[in-house]
Amino acid sequence: MFPPRWHSSSRKTDEGELVSRRLAALICVALTGGVLVAACGGGGGSSSGGSSGGGGKSVSGAKVIDPNSMNKPPKGTIHYCQGKDTTGDAHAKVKLFNQKYASQGYKAVLTEFPASADAQRAQFIQRQQAKSNDCDVFSSDVIWTAEFASQKWLYDMTPYINKFKGKFIAAPLETIHYAGKYWGVPFASDAAFIFYRTDKVSTPPTTWQQVYQQAAQKGGIVYQGAPYEGLTCDFLELAFAAGGSVLSPDGKKSTFNSPQNVKALTLMTDGIKHGSAPKAVTTYMEPETDQAWTTGKYAFMRNWTYAYAADNKAPSKVAGKYKVAPLPAFEGGGKAGILGGHNAVISVYTKNPGLALKFADFSASDQWQKEQLLKFSLASVIPGVYSEADVKKSVPYASELLQALSQAKARPVSPVYPQISEAIYTNVNNALAGRESPQAAIKAADSAISKALQTF
Ligand code: GLC
Repeated sequence: MFPPRWHSSSRKTDEGELVSRRLAALICVALTGGVLVAACGGGGGSSSGGSSGGGGKSVSGAKVIDPNSMNKPPKGTIHYCQGKDTTGDAHAKVKLFNQKYASQGYKAVLTEFPASADAQRAQFIQRQQAKSNDCDVFSSDVIWTAEFASQKWLYDMTPYINKFKGKFIAAPLETIHYAGKYWGVPFASDAAFIFYRTDKVSTPPTTWQQVYQQAAQKGGIVYQGAPYEGLTCDFLELAFAAGGSVLSPDGKKSTFNSPQNVKALTLMTDGIKHGSAPKAVTTYMEPETDQAWTTGKYAFMRNWTYAYAADNKAPSKVAGKYKVAPLPAFEGGGKAGILGGHNAVISVYTKNPGLALKFADFSASDQWQKEQLLKFSLASVIPGVYSEADVKKSVPYASELLQALSQAKARPVSPVYPQISEAIYTNVNNALAGRESPQAAIKAADSAISKALQTF
């Protein structure tokens, strides 16, 4: 039996346990009559757990933000860095901010980093190591909080968050909580869907096994199989659903070498061997997945929420021809997903922390949160947005979005998470490309994870 992950736990957490907290919080956004409503104003923020945990770690001596500094900061320009703006949401956000504040002498400029999450991280690290103020505000993936905070690269945003805690859904809020402090402003939550072609598939499959079987007959599935962070997510979605895990509950040991993880990987490698997925997925990140999907050839795609809006635009050949479903169960296991998303973090090297905060605050404003959901299908971090009349009307996938977010689990929280993830995606990619058996790949990742854990 697959252990229910819906209970709340006070135990010190592994990635599965973390989820129950996040989940409990997300359930605050309840589903009523097919639409999302705010059942409670999150906040949760109960510091005790979550990514937060930080395993008793402490980060001292960080610069602390003054929440009032955003009210009348010195005039000037701040630079907002984020990954490649493939959908246009970042340009739209910067434009709106500038329209609103230009007359007061405030301006934001966008700096785009590559599409790959790992490359974005590397770009930010380079700048922080050089103590550069190239990025006043950075769109930080939910998995980087522990590392960046430990390095003392981020403003401690606790006083700001404490002031506005009540407005956030607790799951995304927990992703900026580390070592008892808050290190950013959540602005986009994320989870994946199975996209399916309504002209090829009548109802979405209920298990991953069915997805792969049907894919073989109806045109195939595309997903992110390149060796980078995205593949860690794609793999862990199946692995967690199969009942697998990455770390022991105390976060100290690898639990990666398990029959459940081997099963999950075997389904994926067989999928490529037997024609459910093209071998090219081993080179796909998100943009390549969209390119393949919008050719119209494939029956299924695994991708994040943004693709709902992005792939519906000309010249897409699948516009109007697909729906989304929350990720299915793994036979003999249960349902799972991976919690993604981004937080606006402020670099300690900024010369205008007040203006940087103004921009971060704008990213989480009702105005922008609504716009990013309606136009770019990015999941709001404010529950109230989901219950607004025009949102209810124009987000046909609202109930699927709620379920996808609700079943999403955190990736392991650790300052060495990037090394853990690299161990996973490198070996999983080796298996997908046929260079290693699933067993050997899981074993190799397990020993690399153990090594990474010894480094801190
Ligand atoms: C999405 C998610 C992010 C994840 C990344 C992997 O951007 O929001 O959390 O790490 O995809 O490619």
